[in-house]
Amino acid sequence: MYNSDKVIPGIIIFIIFFTIPMWLNLGGAKAIPRPELPKEEKNCVESKEYMRAYHMKLLLKWRNMAIREGKRTFVGADGKTYLISLQNTCMKCHKSNEKFCDRCHKFVATHPDCWHCHIAPEEVAKLRRWQNGNR
Ligand code: HEC
Ligand code: HEC
Ligand code: HEC
Repeated sequence: MYNSDKVIPGIIIFIIFFTIPMWLNLGGAKAIPRPELPKEEKNCVESKEYMRAYHMKLLLKWRNMAIREGKRTFVGADGKTYLISLQNTCMKCHKSNEKFCDRCHKFVATHPDCWHCHIAPEEVAKLRRWQNGNR
């Protein structure tokens, strides 16, 4: 005969132990930001790793190139030429500030003020619906 006093707690500990990765993942799914990536495009203007780490620097560089130097074209890592524009280039692929940029920014608690003036296609559409009274 087995000793149920020991076996049952044993089983419970076993279950908890082997489902720990699942529980951690459950929390992680909420905690780690998942920016919505474009479905129809495969590549960014630079590598994903570069963009993840340096997009803010690239944006400032773009702003300086466009506004100070009057240069409106940028050649990406793949040799492709892009129009320098936050709204018409970045946000043509990344259509929503809310579902892309802000998903990460909320997580790291940073609030770039770009959206006081620049605007992304999905937010434009929302604004139009709101102005027309049907939200
Ligand atoms: C031609 C479409 C396109 C344009 C233009 C574009 N992106 Fe991307 N971007 C992508 C795609 C596709 C990915 C995902 C790449 C991958 O998975 O390797 C990405 C990835 C990123 C990432 C990393 C996301 C992550 O999950 O780590 C950032 C940040 C980013 N882009 C910002 C920008 C900014 C800022 C601009 C403008 C300077 C821009 N992108 C222009 C298509 C684009
Ligand atoms: C993969 C996550 C991720 C995505 C997607 C992302 N960002 Fe960021 N962004 C960050 C992180 C992390 C920082 C650095 C925050 C810090 O250092 O305080 C940052 C910082 C910035 C800054 C500098 C803010 C400051 O106050 O110095 C700008 C500007 C910016 N992002 C613009 C954008 C734009 C525009 C998009 C969408 C096209 C975007 N980011 C998408 C993660 C992301
Ligand atoms: C007070 C309003 C305002 C704010 C805030 C603002 N911008 Fe701009 N931005 C402008 C104007 C106006 C232009 C000039 C448009 C042109 O000549 O094409 C511009 C141009 C740019 C350009 C180059 C051309 C283009 O059309 O994209 C970039 C890149 C840019 N801004 C990035 C940013 C980023 C990144 C932020 C947030 C950190 C930001 N801007 C915040 C008003 C603003």
